Amino acid sequence: MTTAPKITEAPSDLAASHEIAAGAAQFLSPVVRDLEALVVNGKHLHWHVRGVGFQQIHELLDGVVAHAQEYADTAAERIIALGLPVDSRIGTVAEKSSLPEIADGFQPWEQTVAAVVGQIDAALVTVREAIKGLDDIDLSSQDIAIAIEQGLTKDRWLLQAHLAS
Ligand SMILES: [Fe+2]
Repeated sequence: MTTAPKITEAPSDLAASHEIAAGAAQFLSPVVRDLEALVVNGKHLHWHVRGVGFQQIHELLDGVVAHAQEYADTAAERIIALGLPVDSRIGTVAEKSSLPEIADGFQPWEQTVAAVVGQIDAALVTVREAIKGLDDIDLSSQDIAIAIEQGLTKDRWLLQAHLAS
């Protein structure tokens, strides 16, 4: 009679997978929170834009928000897939996001564009820190951060081009 081999993780594998999960959580959680802040602030700016650039910027911002939500989902689910939770509660996002405060109320479209570019720039700093930090921890998580960096940089360009002379 033969017995099936037991499938167990060796202690070194367990330590390695714990290190990967902890690294992903450390570097991707701030990315998730910045992107969730970008979702909320992006919508606020989308609603309050005014002036001749209204239509284009109003529509562009819906894209920025949709992308940020999608990126946040991908980054958060990477952490969860590795077995750790992520704190993306609204209070935590408000307390810990690196995005600068934005103006309340209506504003001319040029100021709206500058404000969104400022939001994206802050998020990009966090994303690039994640890319750097994850380099020797987990390449799959780093890939996610790289894809987010590419997407945010493209959205930044689509907005910033409206202000370039
Ligand atoms: Fe809308």
